[in-house]
Amino acid sequence: MYNGIIVFGITGQACVSRIIAVANQKGGVGKTTTTLNLGVALAQQGARVLLVDLDPQASLTSFFSLDPYRMERSTYSLLMYPEVTIARIIRPLVNGLSLLPGSVDLATAAIRLVQANLPLGRLRSAMRESRISFDYVLIDTPPGLNVLTVVGLLAADEVLVPTQINHTAIQGVRAIQDVIKRIRENMGNPGLATTGILATFFDSDSAYAPQTLHELRALLKEQLCQTVIPYDPSVADAPYKGKSVVDFAPESQGAKAYLALASELATTT
Ligand SMILES: Nc1ncnc2c1ncn2[C@@H]1O[C@H](COP(=O)(O)OP(=O)(O)O)[C@@H](O)[C@H]1O
Ligand SMILES: [Mg+2]
Repeated sequence: MYNGIIVFGITGQACVSRIIAVANQKGGVGKTTTTLNLGVALAQQGARVLLVDLDPQASLTSFFSLDPYRMERSTYSLLMYPEVTIARIIRPLVNGLSLLPGSVDLATAAIRLVQANLPLGRLRSAMRESRISFDYVLIDTPPGLNVLTVVGLLAADEVLVPTQINHTAIQGVRAIQDVIKRIRENMGNPGLATTGILATFFDSDSAYAPQTLHELRALLKEQLCQTVIPYDPSVADAPYKGKSVVDFAPESQGAKAYLALASELATTT
């Protein structure tokens, strides 16, 4: 759900500054929440932001009151049909924010892409061909290391890896780093960089989280984002009101953290 006004009609010179995939093979680590709230925070700071939904669960798309069961044109059509352009599927939203919606059809995309031998770099080439300008493109990817995650990582210049701070976090981070390495070395995106590993759901009252965060920082050094996203019920409550936490509870720790992440990102070009 999203309570904003929908504004159509984007024009401008073709240019995308940063394409960032938000990825982690684990579900429930805050990928979709980060894509949304970071996007809203960046847009609030004046950037033009395109959100891309590559997840068959399409929770990002549902958030904006679009029904992923009834999407005539979506990232699925973009991947399947060469004649479909970004201009045909884009949904301009509010304040410099736009969306390439996903659909439940994405669940079959992995098989169809392989069966029909379609290019996995289609999202990237479509963005290159597009005449619509953005400062940031944030790509929400599904859990699991499937073809759609690869599509997202091939389209991206950078990867932001949200990770929960618990005893399996380091293992999970290693797995995604391995995938990033493979995408760089064997799959034709040698320039893919890591924006950062983003600690999410941080609970400072927990007996273990502060120590685990300390260990992660020692291991990952500057690869770990300075900003840490706290566990904050406002973050989970905001979608029920059709809002990002940045709009729903601007004074909450969660909102402040996503605004800080947006500023951090802007200084690490
Ligand atoms: N910082 C947070 N504090 C509290 N709840 C959160 C936070 N981040 C995400 N959530 C909630 O956790 C759930 C999983 O987050 P989500 O972003 O959907 O994960 P993923 O996309 O990685 O599967 C959602 O219900 C979301 O509202
Ligand atoms: Mg998700």
